[in-house]
Amino acid sequence: MSESNLDFSASKLFNLEGMTALVTGGTSGLGLIMAKAYLQNGVKVLITSRRQKKCDMALRELSEYGECQAFAADVTKADGRSKLLARVEDYLGVLNILLNNAGANWGASLEDYPDEGFAKVMDTNLNAVFSLTRDAVPLLSKAASAADPARVINIGSMDGLHVPVVQRVPTFAYSASKAALHHLTRALAVELGPRHITVNAVAPGFFESRMTDYIFEHYFEDIEADCPLGRIGQAEEMAGIAVYLASRAGNYTNGAVIPVDGGTNVSKGVKPWTQS
Ligand SMILES: NC(=O)c1ccc[n+]([C@@H]2O[C@H](COP(=O)([O-])OP(=O)(O)OC[C@H]3O[C@@H](n4cnc5c(N)ncnc54)[C@H](OP(=O)(O)O)[C@@H]3O)[C@@H](O)[C@H]2O)c1
Repeated sequence: MSESNLDFSASKLFNLEGMTALVTGGTSGLGLIMAKAYLQNGVKVLITSRRQKKCDMALRELSEYGECQAFAADVTKADGRSKLLARVEDYLGVLNILLNNAGANWGASLEDYPDEGFAKVMDTNLNAVFSLTRDAVPLLSKAASAADPARVINIGSMDGLHVPVVQRVPTFAYSASKAALHHLTRALAVELGPRHITVNAVAPGFFESRMTDYIFEHYFEDIEADCPLGRIGQAEEMAGIAVYLASRAGNYTNGAVIPVDGGTNVSKGVKPWTQS
């Protein structure tokens, strides 16, 4: 073991200086938080989402933290993905980190759940991640080495680990898409590991975002009660896992699905025993 590998200071272990990242869905919510975390740690970042206006707004916010560009593209469309990867090549050259974060949800009762809603969620949360990752392999490979692998980080969900406990908003496609994304992560980790590209997933619990507006408004108390830590997640807790997985400290983590949910997915909504 070389001397440099025995420097366990946080500044060495978690140093991301000089890396490049593509963050899909980087214009709001968790994507915006993780893009900010990368920029604050010296990563050059390209963010994307469908709407130009949201791209412009997010870019204004992110630019003060480091080198960043925003490019409007729909990751569910082949044309959107190929234009996006052309921009990645132009702006970033090589790709150290592909953060597949863009996601969609659809809530409806079983009887009313439309095929197009199911398809839209699967297209965004699963199919687009597969296609974009496959097509990004050449750019990831250019940045990859045995000592410092390139990274694919997929944002799954605790709802892909359990059947959602806040059951009043049925989201059949969402939990199915995230469970499939977790397994796709494992399959890609086995395929791409030998090419020095790690593939991991994060399975967040509840965090504040546009996606959770409705459910927080109606079921916030249930959400807190279902979490053993009794609260929702904080921005720094998503920033932390995104930095860890991209860093030298995360070099040997591959094929993992890491819950960041305060233990909600293992609690099954169990309430503490109170003696009467
Ligand atoms: N917030 C939570 O509690 C939570 C919990 C577990 C998992 N997650 C996951 O975290 C990820 C981010 O969600 P969020 O909560 O931050 O929600 P959000 O604020 O709604 O962010 C979703 C992002 O994805 C983009 N997007 C959606 N469809 C897209 C497409 N076809 N092409 C490109 N971009 C697209 C959206 O921008 P446009 O609409 O402009 O395209 C937006 O930037 C999702 O994968 C979600 O499933 C969130």
